[in-house]
Parts: sequence; structure tokens; C-alpha cells
Amino acid sequence: KADRGLTLQLMMAVGTAVIGSLQFGYNTGVINAPQKIIEGFLNDTWNSRYSEPIPTTSLTTLWSISVAIFSVGGIFGSFSVGLFVNRLGRRNSMLIANVLAFISAGFMGFSKLAASWEMLIIGRFIVGLYSGLSTGFVPMYVGEIAPTSLRGALGTLHQLGIVLGILMAQVFGIESIMGNSTLWPFLLGFTFIPAMLQCILLPFCPESPRFLLINRNEELKAREVLEKLRGTEEVGADMQEMKEEARQMMKEKKVTILELFRSPLYRQPIFIAIMLQLSQQLSGINAVFYYSTRIFEKAGVSQPVYATIGAGVVNTAFTVVSLFVVERAGRRSLHLTGLLGMAFSAVLMTIAMALLLPWMSYVSIVAIFSFVAFFEIGPGPIPWFIVAELFSQGPRPSAFAVAGFSNWSANFIVGMTFQYVEQLCGPYVFIIFTVLLLGFFIFTYFKVPETKGRSFDEISAGFRHEAGQSGEKYTPDEMNSLGGADSQL
Ligand code: GLC
Repeated sequence: KADRGLTLQLMMAVGTAVIGSLQFGYNTGVINAPQKIIEGFLNDTWNSRYSEPIPTTSLTTLWSISVAIFSVGGIFGSFSVGLFVNRLGRRNSMLIANVLAFISAGFMGFSKLAASWEMLIIGRFIVGLYSGLSTGFVPMYVGEIAPTSLRGALGTLHQLGIVLGILMAQVFGIESIMGNSTLWPFLLGFTFIPAMLQCILLPFCPESPRFLLINRNEELKAREVLEKLRGTEEVGADMQEMKEEARQMMKEKKVTILELFRSPLYRQPIFIAIMLQLSQQLSGINAVFYYSTRIFEKAGVSQPVYATIGAGVVNTAFTVVSLFVVERAGRRSLHLTGLLGMAFSAVLMTIAMALLLPWMSYVSIVAIFSFVAFFEIGPGPIPWFIVAELFSQGPRPSAFAVAGFSNWSANFIVGMTFQYVEQLCGPYVFIIFTVLLLGFFIFTYFKVPETKGRSFDEISAGFRHEAGQSGEKYTPDEMNSLGGADSQL
């Protein structure tokens, strides 16, 4: 049965971890709605410093920096994951990272009082660092504590945390709630609350048993934690599998980032991990989440802010759908379906934007909603958690660093360039994403194996097998069936 293994301990641990994902989502979405209001603050501050209104170019620059510096923080944060997880452990890494969340909440929350946009920008950078770390820590921890049969479903909770964060930010950002000139510092300082909650709850969550056994060689402790997480004393099979992984790891203790690319063992999985991250970001999803209000406006939608919140709701709903089907349908088929559906929706959007007929505003809403829905079916959640699945304990931290770096860099590029590219291509801007999406579809079809229902050790054995017999590759049919009968729920 699907819910076998879903104990209270496990739910509590995963639930606490994904507060970090919520922070990431919240800060992704939070500066969208109150743009005008915060620009007002920039103008006032400029005025009081230089006794003249802020020039338009300076305003645009300051605003763009405030938005984009978040992803720059994310790039640095995600790349540093490996510095923490093996020294402090997975859980304590998550705990310590909250120092960053508190500092950033302080900087952002008091920037208005201090009449300092520098504080706003520094705060955005620091919360970006935190978010970058989270995109490594959370999927790693969740992947390591989840039983094999629930790894995809629980892994999707990271994405669910993110989308709930985005939705909360969209709703809180409504003018009558906190998106106004008095309350916006609270809107940004809100980060404080999830951080506090996580600090209270994390000490009650266990360390990853894989970390305890494989990295620390603390077998008794590992067993104890595992028994609690699984709610049974029969954890022999799990222990056996981890020991097998530990044995493999003796050969490759800690794998550096460079070794990931040099060793034929890892070259293929790291290439797959990077491409999946790129498929997530270069799908154009954040063009929607950063600029949807403007896109709707251009398409002639009369209440663009509400259409944006609608997109947030669809986003959340379909992440839940993915959560329930991912262990049955598998990663591959969902990712493929998502990419193809997004490509189709992007074409529809182009048609809607190119032909501005009266009812085309509805078509554009349908197109954006289905774009977002297909995203959450596969390309949203899967790239995040599949990194934990593609690598065993030794290379996993470095793999997360590389994957996170690729993801955040692509995020930054789309965020920075979308508006300029749109000026160049006009309504045809989404055709670029269509082409990319189809490219990633082809890549996934030929290169990404199914990981559903296979233990970490089996997955890396699969890659070892391929690396050993170069020239002999899995056919797509074989890749699909690798899930095997044992994975049936
Ligand atoms: C994914 C992406 C993130 C995006 C979000 C939208 O988590 O990594 O950049 O904003 O999905 O739901």
C-alpha cells in the first residue's frame, strides 16, 4: 500500500525541512506585487538624500538589482552546499542556515525605517544565499530519509513548499493585506516567522540515517533513527542497503566537483542532472512568475493581479496532482508529458498574444494556466529530487552543488533577460521557450532513465554498468522498465 512507511516521525521531519522550501518560494514571489510601492520608497529615499526625484534609469537599475540579487545569492548559496552537509550533517546544516534568514529579515524589514535601499539589496542577497542552500539541503535530506517507494512523492513536497510560498507571497502582497506603503516592510520581514518555526521544530527531527551510517559510521544511532522513521524494528533491509552503499563508498569516499566531471562513472548522471535543471528553468516558468502581471496586461486581461494569483493557485493544485501520481507514473513519463504540454501551451500563448482579438485575453489565461499546470506535473518537482536519486552518498553533495548552480544561473539569466528579449521579439518571445522545451523533450526521451522504485544503490549500479560497457546503452524501452515490478504500490 502507498501509505506504508508514512509515519508521523517521517511526516514531521519532511514537513519541517520543507519550511526551507517555503522560504525560497516566498522570496521568489514577494517582490512581484508591491513593485510600485517599493519603487515609491526608493524615490522618497533618493529625494531625501539628493533633494531631487529619482531619475528613471536609476530607479530601473535599483529595482532590477533588488530583484535579481536574490538569484545571485542563490547561485553562491547552492554552490556552497558541500561545505556544510558533510561537516555538520544534513539537519544541522538546515538549522544553521536560519541565521541567514534572520539576518535577511532584519535587513529587509528595517530598510524603510533606516531609509536605506542598500539594506534592502543586502537583505535580498542574504535571503538568496539561504534559498540557494535550501535547494540543496532540503531535497538531499528528504531523499535520504524517505523509503524508496515514497521518495518521489516526498521529494515533490519540496516543490509543494516552494509553490505554497509563492502563493502566500502573492496573497499577502495584495494591497489591502500587506502590499501597501505602510506594511511592505512586514511583507518582506515575514521571512522571520518560518525561520523561527523551523528553528523550534528541527531539533525534534532526526539526522539522516544515511549520513549517520555512511559518513559517520554510527551504526547503532543510524538504526535507532531508522526504526523511528519507519515505525518498525524491522529495518534490516534498509540497513543492508545502506551498508552496501557504504561499502561502495569506501572506494570513493568524498567526490569533489571536478571528479564528478572527470570520472566516467559520474559523467553521465551529472550531465543528466544539469540538463534537467536547465529544462526546468529554460522552460520559461519564471518569465511567468516574475512577469505574469505584465504579460496578462499586454494580453488585454482586465484584472491582471487576480489572474496572477489564479496562476499561483493552478500552480499549487497541479503540484499536488504530481505528488499523487509520481510513484505510479514514474519520473520519466511525467517529465516528458510536462515538457510537451508546456511547449503546446507556449504556442497557444504566442497565438493569443499575436492576435489580440477580444476573446484572446481568455485564451492567454488558459494558455498561461496550462503552461503552469504542465510545469508542475514534471519539470517543477522532478529535477529537484532526482539529483538525490541519481547519485550515491559519496558524490551526492557535489552533485547538488553543480545542479543547484546550474539551476540558479539559468534562473538568473531568464529573470534578467526576459524583458529585453521580449522587447526584441514582441509576441513571439514564447517561441524561444517552445524550441527549448522540444529540445529538452528529446534529451529526456533518449537520456533520462526511470528511477522510480529503485534503491540508490541500484540506480548507481545502473550507471556503473553503462560506464563499464561504453557503446552499449539502454534503449528508451529498457529505461522505462527499469522501475521494475517491485516498485508497484
Ligand atoms: C521551481 C523553480 C522555481 C520556480 C518554481 C515555480 O521550484 O525552481 O524557480 O519559481 O518552480 O513554481
